[in-house]
Amino acid sequence: MSHARPDTSASQIEQAAALLAQGRLVAIPTETVYGLAGDARNPDAVRAIFALKGRPADHPLIVHIGTVAEIAAWAARVPPAAMELASAFWPGPLTLVLPAAPDVPRVVTGGLDTVALRMPAHPLALALLRRLGRGLAAPSANRYGRVSPTCARHVREEFGEGVAMVVDGGACTIGIESTIVDLSAGTARILRPGAITPEQIERCLHAAVERQPAPGTRSPGLKASHYCPRARVVCTAPDQAAATAAHWLARGHRVCVLSPAACDQMHAGLVWLRVSDDASTLARQLYAKLRQADDLQADVIVAALPAAAGIGAAVRDRLRRAAGGGEEFRA
Ligand code: TXA
Ligand code: MG
Repeated sequence: MSHARPDTSASQIEQAAALLAQGRLVAIPTETVYGLAGDARNPDAVRAIFALKGRPADHPLIVHIGTVAEIAAWAARVPPAAMELASAFWPGPLTLVLPAAPDVPRVVTGGLDTVALRMPAHPLALALLRRLGRGLAAPSANRYGRVSPTCARHVREEFGEGVAMVVDGGACTIGIESTIVDLSAGTARILRPGAITPEQIERCLHAAVERQPAPGTRSPGLKASHYCPRARVVCTAPDQAAATAAHWLARGHRVCVLSPAACDQMHAGLVWLRVSDDASTLARQLYAKLRQADDLQADVIVAALPAAAGIGAAVRDRLRRAAGGGEEFRA
């Protein structure tokens, strides 16, 4: 594996492009999380992504593109709303689900007749995509169901030698995965919340947006249990964090508290991992803090939920899924 040498960006991009053209897998930085990228038109490369992640074959991948013009190569139909959203938010943390063109390898779409497209804003990802002129299938670069990586070191910890190269673009500036909007069925519908909020999408489209996936929607990242550290995650209101921690401590567990408010750390089994009370900063810190709690051998992570405004709604979504979809614990 190529470790982060004092490479220039240009030489990292050349090396990554050469590996991807050979059908190899390369981890790439994006503004949301690191992606495990392979040539989206190469079914063997795409199969290798599923194999390395341990991801079920019916869980579709997002195709990353470097220009708006490339939408036409992937989508059978491009509704006006897609162009409006792409113009407003690309490059950026927004994924559009559109009807797939007939020649899109169905291994990428998990057998669906729709394809998810995103133009990432990270300068290295964008330069690589434009250099290649090809779409890159790139799920988050973590093992199936686990916490997404937000720096190059996290990716190496996940996959070691399993990935040909990790392009090191520093820490991700957003820190949680893109907002996914489904435009394949007439109305716009949010499948996964992210940094781009429903209100921003509605302002752009001058139309109402469905806030929840339709019942029975195939978008497997919406599974109740996802983004899971090893430790059990328990979500609480911020003012309940200390009481909730006490509950688990009393049962003999090692507890990490993720909260902006200080926690009494006199108890040997308790570590307070301070997080920001600003939701955007919290989003940026979240996955590294979950990994840190695992490194500290916590049994239980007590996580204070931020307010639901702005990106806070997406942070709450990730924490609830990390908790396995369970309800808030009340001490
Ligand atoms: O921010 C992101 O979106 C990151 C970076 C690397 O771009 N990628 C990411 O990929 O989060 P992944 O594979 O971890 O999550 C992709 C999500 C899954 O929930 C999947 O079900 C959904 O996108 N998805 C992909 N194609 C879809 C489709 N055709 N219809 C519905 N959902 C789809
Ligand atoms: Mg993922």
